[in-house]
Amino acid sequence: MTDKPFTLRIPFPGFQPSRTDNHITRHLSDLEGRFMDTETYEQMLEEEDVMLYEVYEVRRPEIAGEMLFGIDIIHPGKVGDEFFMTKGHYHEMLETSELYYCLQGEGFMVMETPEGDTAVEKLFPNSVIYVPPRWAHRTVCTGQNEDLVNFYIYPANAGQNYGTLEQFGFRKIIVERNNRIEIIDNPNIKHRS
Ligand code: PA5
Ligand code: MN
Repeated sequence: MTDKPFTLRIPFPGFQPSRTDNHITRHLSDLEGRFMDTETYEQMLEEEDVMLYEVYEVRRPEIAGEMLFGIDIIHPGKVGDEFFMTKGHYHEMLETSELYYCLQGEGFMVMETPEGDTAVEKLFPNSVIYVPPRWAHRTVCTGQNEDLVNFYIYPANAGQNYGTLEQFGFRKIIVERNNRIEIIDNPNIKHRS
């Protein structure tokens, strides 16, 4: 069976696609163990389980040949020195890539491979980041008051593997130190034996 082509619109501002099949929201409690400063994390969580990011998905069958795409919005803020960010993941099917097109805001795409290579690319309006096969990816919002908004697209059979990075942590993290944004080694990284 073949589908008919379709068109959708991404309004500015707002960015919710005119066709949205799924709206995912992720809160502070969903990122337990992922921020460096666990004490500040617990204190913040006691006060409010704030929303860190949301994703508007256009669903398609998760099979080879299809593509999944949508909009992700990371809100501004920090846990201690560390900026709000997505969980981050490898693709379950490691040999699949992803493309991001930044529509608004500022931030970074933090990436690494199972072999230990790392890369951090800046996100700014109209920048396009290609995440090659094998590279785990996490999006970080470094704007003061502005959401970071990206269009993403990837093969529909890629799947997500969150477990590896939940267990070991990303090798690089993005923090603010002395009013400067810095890329530093994650002090809480667990070493693979
Ligand atoms: O497809 C992607 O990689 C993105 O749309 C992410 O899923 C999105 O940014 C949310 O991040 P995560 O899936 O790591 O929670
Ligand atoms: Mn992905």
